Amino acid sequence: MKNRTYCGEIDISSSGESVVLCGWIHRVRDLGGLSFFLLRDHTGIIQVTPAPDDETVQNLIGKLRHEDVVKVTGTIRKRPDGNVNPKMSTGEIEIAAIEIEILSAAKVPPFLPEEAERVQEDLRLKHRVLHLRTEKMQRNFRLRHQLYQSVRRYFDENGFCEIETPFLVKPTPEGARDFLVPSRLHPTKTYALPQSPQIYKQLLMVAGFDRYFQIVKCFRDEDLRADRQPEFTQIDAELSFTDEEEIQEIVEGLMVRIYKEVKNIEIDAPFPRITYSEAISLYGSDKPDLRIPLKITDLTETFRGSDFRVFSSAIEAGGAIRGLNLPGCGGYSRKKRDELIHLSKSWGLGGLVYFMSSDEGISSSAAKFLSEAEMAAAVEKCDIKPGDMLAVAADASIEKVALGMGQLRSWAGKNLNLISEVENRLCWITDFPMFEYNDEIGRYQAAHHPFTLPVEEDLDKYENEPGRIRSKAYDLVLNGHEIAGGSIRIHDREIQRKVFELLGFKEEETRERFGFLLEALEYGTPPHGGIAFGLDRMAMIMAGVDSIREVIAFPKTTAALSLMDGSPAVTDEKQWLELGLKPIGKAKGN
Ligand code: AMO
Repeated sequence: MKNRTYCGEIDISSSGESVVLCGWIHRVRDLGGLSFFLLRDHTGIIQVTPAPDDETVQNLIGKLRHEDVVKVTGTIRKRPDGNVNPKMSTGEIEIAAIEIEILSAAKVPPFLPEEAERVQEDLRLKHRVLHLRTEKMQRNFRLRHQLYQSVRRYFDENGFCEIETPFLVKPTPEGARDFLVPSRLHPTKTYALPQSPQIYKQLLMVAGFDRYFQIVKCFRDEDLRADRQPEFTQIDAELSFTDEEEIQEIVEGLMVRIYKEVKNIEIDAPFPRITYSEAISLYGSDKPDLRIPLKITDLTETFRGSDFRVFSSAIEAGGAIRGLNLPGCGGYSRKKRDELIHLSKSWGLGGLVYFMSSDEGISSSAAKFLSEAEMAAAVEKCDIKPGDMLAVAADASIEKVALGMGQLRSWAGKNLNLISEVENRLCWITDFPMFEYNDEIGRYQAAHHPFTLPVEEDLDKYENEPGRIRSKAYDLVLNGHEIAGGSIRIHDREIQRKVFELLGFKEEETRERFGFLLEALEYGTPPHGGIAFGLDRMAMIMAGVDSIREVIAFPKTTAALSLMDGSPAVTDEKQWLELGLKPIGKAKGN
């Protein structure tokens, strides 16, 4: 088998050559006594027929079953005229087999690989190996492999050193729930699985490594979605003696390189830089999909003092009015417009007011409450052409109206077919707020993590307006997905103390949780900063699929279950006892 040839690598120029092929039975066909089959390996599919008058092989083919693993010895030959299949890359040729050996007979599978996309995802996940055999999944994982190689080459060439950090750690500060690992040797104590290598990479900077990177698993116990898994992979990097511009430039170089090497696509750098507050007001999101060619317009001043109470009361309460052009929707029926209003309520908006422009003038669902001048100003400001429809929302909360309009923008992108699938639109989001107020716990939380450096000129807002302190944090957004996030770190002990204080950490708690970092910071710390990419998200977008489960070999469901190996599994009593633990409550069926 050492000298085997791969199915997808043969073409008509090799006609007449002898080959050995190994693979899976993709399909068996029986045409009135003449049986032949398609053989599949990771490179492609090729047709195999018995060599002329070879009854032994002919009989054996009759016995083959889908997904049997076989070794085929034979000769490459041109298919007879009329049998050429232009849909197959090997459709001009076939193998005339002189010997077939069944290496492993397969049971009847619950579905054939080629049917995988049509069966329920749960069944696909349970029999993951069958799904992974498909051409699409094989392609996804080869792309992911190229991504690793490209990243490693780039960082290596740019002086970064790959260093592994531990998996059994003290909790790290990314803000999700930890996965805990009880210690057998130290009952009552636990390790945590790292939410990211954040603290460790900062320690590596203190240790003088200058430039570090790692492709690393991270673990977060949080609600799962199409682009979130409990264990996922980061491309993690940290640099000393650096600033935001340098980090962003290095990352831009990396993205250009990856796109060229993995997809053979040239992308333009530098990427646009958009501040967080600009992103929220123009796109209603801190991860705007720039492929959607629409911007939200602020109409607060246009409607200030309006007689229309819905608008004026929102403004008086300190809120805002925002409008979005829905191109081509001018002819929407009443029913369609009402459906959109209904949807807008699920986005947190109170409703939508519509404006349409035509040669006869401007019409609006609120025409009787608004002056001609107000309507004309709104339509002009939002560049509404005949055939378009302007949707306007008002709310006493600026944030609510902004985010609601952001949802409308995303809706428009998808439903009005405004998104070009071949485009790759990257941008940086900068100047994030340093803290977010968490209503549930009644105090501020770090928006990125507590080691992020605040913007210096905002430091005087500590006492009275902590919510307005900006941070030196940045995210990289690709087609509406946050694919990377990073920041410049605090290397000043006093600023770090203040940040912890604001986050409500007691001195003692800070020492207990992060003392080892704080102590290290006191022995000479270079200014440093870094970034981490969600590698699975990048692979998902580059592979053109819509879930990271398609680019993770053995993923979990959104309920955090692995249907394939049945984890998490019930643990026997002996193991609990060894850990000094006793489960309470009953295990749910799994
Ligand atoms: P952050 O928490 O922003 O930053 O994570 C970095 C990137 O990781 C990806 N990501 C995820 N991907 C899949 N499933 C998840 N559950 C998940 N959570 C995050 C995202 C995100 O942009 N230590 C900092 C980085 C730094 O400051 O250098 C960190 O982890 O694409």
